[in-house]
Amino acid sequence: MSARIELSQVFKIFGARPKGRALKMAQSGVMKDDVQAATDHVVGLHDVSFSVGDGEIFVIMGLSGSGKSTAIRTVNRLHDITAGTVMVDGTDVGALNQRELERFRREKMGMVFQHFALFPHRTVVDNVAYGLKVKGMGIDERRRQALEALELVGLERYYMSFPRELSGGMQQRVGLARALAADLDILLMDEAFSALDPLIRRQMQDELLAMQGDMLHKTILFITHDLNEALRVGDRVCIMKDGAVVQIGTPEEILRNPGTAYVAEFVKDVDQGRVLQVESVMSQPTPISLGTTVGEALAMLGSRASVFCVDDEGKPCGVITRDLLAGTQQAGVETVMKTEFGITSRTAPLVEAYELCAKGELVAVVNERGVLEGRLYALDVLAELGEIESKAEQVKAADLAGEGV
Ligand SMILES: Nc1ncnc2c1ncn2[C@@H]1O[C@H](COP(=O)(O)OP(=O)(O)OP(=O)(O)O)[C@@H](O)[C@H]1O
Ligand SMILES: [Mg+2]
Repeated sequence: MSARIELSQVFKIFGARPKGRALKMAQSGVMKDDVQAATDHVVGLHDVSFSVGDGEIFVIMGLSGSGKSTAIRTVNRLHDITAGTVMVDGTDVGALNQRELERFRREKMGMVFQHFALFPHRTVVDNVAYGLKVKGMGIDERRRQALEALELVGLERYYMSFPRELSGGMQQRVGLARALAADLDILLMDEAFSALDPLIRRQMQDELLAMQGDMLHKTILFITHDLNEALRVGDRVCIMKDGAVVQIGTPEEILRNPGTAYVAEFVKDVDQGRVLQVESVMSQPTPISLGTTVGEALAMLGSRASVFCVDDEGKPCGVITRDLLAGTQQAGVETVMKTEFGITSRTAPLVEAYELCAKGELVAVVNERGVLEGRLYALDVLAELGEIESKAEQVKAADLAGEGV
């Protein structure tokens, strides 16, 4: 995966003399609060390094004041950094002169903000087309492109409306469409969904993921203070605290191996069932074939309580359990198997399998052709979630004991 955006050892100091003693202290490892107490300068970013790959959704997550906005703003140089380098597609962003910088911002990346920043007196389509107008594109072409972007976010019917006539969620969609219309392949999204109601917010997350999967393939730097959102949306998540990076990992890595008490505390509040996929909990199906006799099936069942029966193509057609096998030994399993069972897929969020599991049945995990790939058992799901909880507790306890954080 080639890096599109790369921050290396970036420091950002706010104050009258950013390159003075405050920077020296921060570079020698003194943290934000102590630097501030000693120098009256604020450490916005403390030795931040990360890279965002092509087509990746990279999420920065942290509490208010942890440096998220400062970090994203170094990428299009809304902030000049105090030390380190920021590279975008091989360009050293800090080395651009004013004209080059303007062009770079125009041609490289779009930005979506928390508060939609729409022009109230312009129609939806003109809001979306505005950036294209600034670029010098003719009216027909820019309207066509704007309409296409509105279609992507499902608002084409509202193109002649004014922002005040739309709900918050719709306005945010317009903001997103505006960034998409320019067809730039890097998107910077700073708390873009944070002002929305939880339900609309989840819907926007789903839509972003669906768009990204289907056709967008953008490189997205996405900021949020909500770990649920981070883990849901991100290919990788970077957790920040006091201007510094605490941990970078895939959602699953963060859930399973929180690096510090700070991360563990967040993990405890996460709805794990929405982050983990069925795949991470399913086990080998080792099914038996139709045509097997009850007697043979009993022997093959071994210590398992239940097992799937599959047809010639490997598609599940029933479940047998030890109780069902109690009767006639010579009959085929198809005469006793239960043909009602839940079906899910590898990539389904675990939460969707809960309900199926709650009945205490085996759930079949099938591929797109309906072939059995795994099985999911209620107790496995519970055990998995319990393990994540207790791991988070352990990390927290160990970190607190070791470092007095
Ligand atoms: N222009 C500025 N001048 C001085 N200090 C600033 C400036 N911008 C940010 N800071 C400081 O830098 C730190 C990081 O701020 P930043 O805005 O990046 O936080 P954030 O993680 O985006 O928080 P939020 O979730 O509230 O948006 C804070 O301590 C803040 O006070
Ligand atoms: Mg912010």
